[in-house]
Amino acid sequence: MAQKLIYLDNAATTPVDPRVLEVMLPYYRENFGNSASRNHQFGWVAEEATENARKQVAAVINADPKEIIWTSGSTESNNLAILGAARMYADKGRHLVTSLIEHKAVIDPCKFLQSQGYEVTFLQPDNKGRVSVEQVREALRPDTVLVSLMFANNEIGTIHPIPEIGALCHEKGVLFHTDATQAFGKVPVDVEAMQIDLLSMSAHKIYGPKGVGALYVRRKKPRVRLEPVIYGGGHERGMRSGTLNVPGIVGFGEAARIAKEEMPAESKRLAGLRDRMWAGLSEHLTDIARNGDPQHCLPNILNVSFLYVEGESLMMGFSDIAVSSGSACTSASLEPSYVLKNIGLGDDLAHSSIRFSLGRFTTTEEVDYTIKSVVRTVNHLRAMSPLYEMAQAGIDLSKVEWQHH
Ligand SMILES: Cc1ncc(COP(=O)(O)O)c(C=O)c1O
Repeated sequence: MAQKLIYLDNAATTPVDPRVLEVMLPYYRENFGNSASRNHQFGWVAEEATENARKQVAAVINADPKEIIWTSGSTESNNLAILGAARMYADKGRHLVTSLIEHKAVIDPCKFLQSQGYEVTFLQPDNKGRVSVEQVREALRPDTVLVSLMFANNEIGTIHPIPEIGALCHEKGVLFHTDATQAFGKVPVDVEAMQIDLLSMSAHKIYGPKGVGALYVRRKKPRVRLEPVIYGGGHERGMRSGTLNVPGIVGFGEAARIAKEEMPAESKRLAGLRDRMWAGLSEHLTDIARNGDPQHCLPNILNVSFLYVEGESLMMGFSDIAVSSGSACTSASLEPSYVLKNIGLGDDLAHSSIRFSLGRFTTTEEVDYTIKSVVRTVNHLRAMSPLYEMAQAGIDLSKVEWQHH
């Protein structure tokens, strides 16, 4: 019989919660209407469902339901926020501020804008992955129209000083967008208290379906306007045309409702498991380092570098546990993670890192089993590693002159 697999890659995606699937099913079967059909029962039922979901998603971030724009996920939300704001406010200025460790779904639209004559400042975070308010303040210019900084990082879990950055942006009259894909439903987010103007969310990171997300767009103080990226029938206040994915949106709403309700207890439980994992690993292994900021981080992400061991080999050593490594994550190339490199890790440490991301269905037994497997694999790989042997013998590996052929 196939061995049971352990899933510790919840930052990549999560399974759909059975409770979420249950509320979605009727919208594939009998309630299949188009929410834009205004003149019959099928349309009304679908519209009521999407409006109910709008309230559920808005409630998680203290927004007005009218401020929620449905999209296909955070990639689209980020594109709409960045391209939409940059184009709408181009007359005011053509400068944006972001960071070097954003998700590609922020970095790439920014790079595209650079190719169109905009200027973008990419801030360098500290070695724990945080950007400071002072850095943002120094980067602001009279022609800055948008600051886009993620709420929490997807590889290391570090949380930026969001309320302080929001306050600064509002004081200076600059729009503030945050990619909250990893934070939404996991830690408290309040668009009013934190003075956020645009916020990206995705259902599949919170036990909802894939291919559905939302962008929060502030309507008051200030009223934010966006040039659409997708033109058409004028759905979603003209900002995102296209027939709504009704079952997906219903699922996103229910997933958001559950996440909000369970957050206080669940975030404590996850932080407890994450700390148990780190304690277990550091008790049994030397030469390991935790990446990120233990003071300001998501409860469910633990990123660890195992010196003298390659992340990819490690992963092969425990093939019944699904995790992500710091190498080759977003592409087919073997480039180490740009996030880890940009917080100051050398290629070797970046290549030797593993991201464990825990979730709603992770158990204590799974964490304990993982600790044992990782410890066994690391010890095994190090026992075979000449580099580890040299390091143990006191040789400084950075001073070694390697022979090239
Ligand atoms: C921080 C962050 N932003 C954006 C995305 C993209 O989200 P989606 O898969 O919904 O397009 C992800 C998911 O990998 C993410 O972690």
